[in-house]
Amino acid sequence: MALIVPSILSADFTRLGEQVKAVADAGADRIQVDVMDGHFVPNISIGALGVEAVRRSTTLPIEAHLMITDPTRYVDDFLRAGANLIIFHSEVLDDPRALIGYLHQQGVKAGLAISPETDVARVEPFIDAADLILVMTVHPGFGGQEFMAECLPKVSRLRALLTERHLQTDIEVDGGIHAGTAAQAVAAGANVLVAGSSIYGHAQGAAAGLRELRAGIGG
Ligand code: DX5
Repeated sequence: MALIVPSILSADFTRLGEQVKAVADAGADRIQVDVMDGHFVPNISIGALGVEAVRRSTTLPIEAHLMITDPTRYVDDFLRAGANLIIFHSEVLDDPRALIGYLHQQGVKAGLAISPETDVARVEPFIDAADLILVMTVHPGFGGQEFMAECLPKVSRLRALLTERHLQTDIEVDGGIHAGTAAQAVAAGANVLVAGSSIYGHAQGAAAGLRELRAGIGG
């Protein structure tokens, strides 16, 4: 069964603690904090303070999705803030092995992300080292965008490579995930789903949004 990871990007920040608890109580597998620097992506969101706030709100694992140009410079802030998994973008480091190795030394997991315009070839040499590959199905920078189904062949290609090499690396999909698109992502080979607006924007509240998403993948 795929893991479901709510992204707090679309949460109500005036009551962030409650919003985190709502999805944790509804069965979220971990929480994602979307970090944006206004340089790698055309938006500025939150930094390590956001991870600290989530850390104080739940015992669930936290993943920090660093949509930033210089993850190596800032990674220790996110480690101190309590992140358990740090995902950085393959587009900003030609050889991510050193940063992956550092994260493992620090006792946390390492994820590599590819934006829609980036091919699987960019991360193929590192799928044995990373714990997770994140395939973005929207252009990074904003929540609430339309799902880009044209990215799904990359998920299938990754799944085929991992199967061929007997690797347990997770494949995460993030962007435009709701009950309908989640089933497509899982069918393509994803085993971790990130969702923000379909959970926190749900008319009946975040817990209902998460339950609907879980039902959409037969959970
Ligand atoms: C984009 C963000 C979003 C977020 C989820 O940079 O990474 O994908 O996690 O947003 P939704 O689920 O609203 O598309």
